[in-house]
Amino acid sequence: MASEQKNVGILAMEIYFPPTCVQQEAMEAHDGVSKGKYTIGLGQDCMAFCTEVEDVISMSLTAVSSLLEKYGIDPKEIGRLEVGSETVIDKSKSIKTFLMQIFEECGNTDIEGVDSTNACYGGTAALFNCVNWVESSSWDGRYGLVVCTDSAVYADGPARPTGGAAAIAMLIGPDAPIAFESKFRGSHMSHAYDFYKPNLASEYPVVDGKLSQTCYLMALDSCYKRYCNKYEKFEGKQFSLVDADYFVFHSPYNKLVQKSFARMLFSDFSRNVSSVDEATKEKLRPFSTLTVDESYQSRDLEKATQQLAKPLYDAKVQPATLIPKQVGNMYTASLYAAFVSLIHNKHSTLAGQRVVMFSYGSGLTATMFSFRLCEGKHPFSLKNIATVMNVGEKLKSRHEFPPEKFVETMKLMEHRYGAKDFVTSKDRSLLSPGTYYLTEVDSKYRRFYGKKAGDNTTSTTCENGNGSQNNGH
Ligand code: ACO
Repeated sequence: MASEQKNVGILAMEIYFPPTCVQQEAMEAHDGVSKGKYTIGLGQDCMAFCTEVEDVISMSLTAVSSLLEKYGIDPKEIGRLEVGSETVIDKSKSIKTFLMQIFEECGNTDIEGVDSTNACYGGTAALFNCVNWVESSSWDGRYGLVVCTDSAVYADGPARPTGGAAAIAMLIGPDAPIAFESKFRGSHMSHAYDFYKPNLASEYPVVDGKLSQTCYLMALDSCYKRYCNKYEKFEGKQFSLVDADYFVFHSPYNKLVQKSFARMLFSDFSRNVSSVDEATKEKLRPFSTLTVDESYQSRDLEKATQQLAKPLYDAKVQPATLIPKQVGNMYTASLYAAFVSLIHNKHSTLAGQRVVMFSYGSGLTATMFSFRLCEGKHPFSLKNIATVMNVGEKLKSRHEFPPEKFVETMKLMEHRYGAKDFVTSKDRSLLSPGTYYLTEVDSKYRRFYGKKAGDNTTSTTCENGNGSQNNGH
C-alpha cells in the first residue's frame, strides 16, 4: 500500500567532528612508511580524533542539540530517535538513552527508537527505521531524528591511518528536500570475518584489510546489480552511471571510493549497457574473460577502469569526498559525511538531481539506495542546510596535533576504555561554544557530560532550560 506521506526523507542535517586532528603527511614521516603511502596510496589528507574529553556520546549530544537549536525545533516535536553506532561504550544502555537528557528536560519522554549496530551500516539501518516510521500507519505527525556517531580507532599498524571521528544528526519527515526514492533499493547481506570487534576489552577492531576491501567491492557489485534490476522493473529501462548525477560511498579511505566507482563502470560494461562508449568497450574487452574472483584480484583491470572512470569520477564522485578525506573514516557517519560534502560543495545546483548512496558495514551488510533532491522551503532548504553545517569554517578552525601527541592520546584512550572512577581534565579550550564534553566516569561506570558555555546560536523553543550542564556535574 502506498504511503500517505510524500517525499519522506532528510529535512535538516548537522555534522560535528572533533577539532583535534593529525595530518596524514606528518603520520607518514612519523610511522616511517614511504612518502605518499597515506596521502596518495590511501588518498587521505587528515584524520580527526577524540581526545579524553570527547566520545561518541558527547559528539552526538553536540550534533543533536546544535541541530535542534539552529533549526528552531522544539524537542517535543521529535517522536522517534534512532542511533547508529559501532563504538560500544555500554553493552546494555543505548546511546539513544543518553541523548534523552536533551528531551527529558523539555518534558518529552515519548520517543521511540534505540541503537542499531553492525559496523559502519548502523546509521543506514537507523535511517531506514525512521523513514519507515514516518511512512507507516503508526506515525504520529512528529519528526524522526537519526544520529550516526563513531570514533574510528585502530591499533598501531597499517590500519591506523584509516581512523577518524564524527557525529551526524538528520531530521526526518515528509516533503523533504532530500527525499528517498524508496522503490530503488538493493541490499547484500552475508557472513564474513573481514572487520569485527570480538575483544570487548578493547576499542580496536580485528581487521583483515585485504579481505575487507574485496568484501566491500563484492557487496557493491551485488547491490548495484539489484539496484539496477529494481530501476528497470519500475522504470522499464536500463540504469547506468549516466542516470544519476552523483554517487556517494561509504568512505573508509578515498582510494577505495575511487576503486568502487571504477568497479561500477566495469559492471556497466559487463551488463552491456548502451551508455558505455566504444572506446571504453575496446579497452575493457580483454578483461571480459576473467572469472568474477579473478576480476577482484586483477591489478590491470583496476588500473584500466580507474583511468577510464576518471572524468566521470571527477564530475559525479569527487564533490562528495571532502570531509572523508579531511576527517577520515567515521564508520556509521562516513557515508553521510560524504553526502554532507556534496551539499557543502554543490547545494545551489542540486535541485532535481538524483544521488545514489552506497552503505557498507563489515560482517557484512550493504545497501544501495537513492535520493531525489529539491530546493526545499526555509528552514529546510538545501541552501540553509549548507549554511547551518558551516563545513568550511569547521574544517578551517581545527587544531593540528603532531603525530606524537596523537599517539599519546591513543594510549590514554586505550587505558580509559571500559575504565571507571576517573575525572577528565575538563579541558575545553579547543572546543567551540555549545560542545558537550566528558567530565567524569564515576565508581559505578556512570558517565557525566558538560556543555561548553557561551553558545551564541538561537535557543530552542524548549520552555524548561537551555540544555546545558546535564546531570549538574
Ligand atoms: N606512494 C603512493 N602509493 C603508495 C605508496 C607510496 N609511497 N606506498 C603504498 N602505496 C599504495 C599501495 O600501492 C596501495 O595502493 P593500491 O590499493 O592502489 O594498490 C595503497 O597504498 C595501500 O597500501 P597497501 O600496502 O596495499 O596496504 P596497507 O597494508 O597499507 O593497508 C588497508 C591498507 C588494508 C586499507 C589498511 O589501512 C586497513 O586495513 N584499513 C582498515 C580496513 C578498511 O578500512 N577496510 C575497508 C572496508 S571496511 C571498513 O569500512 C572499516
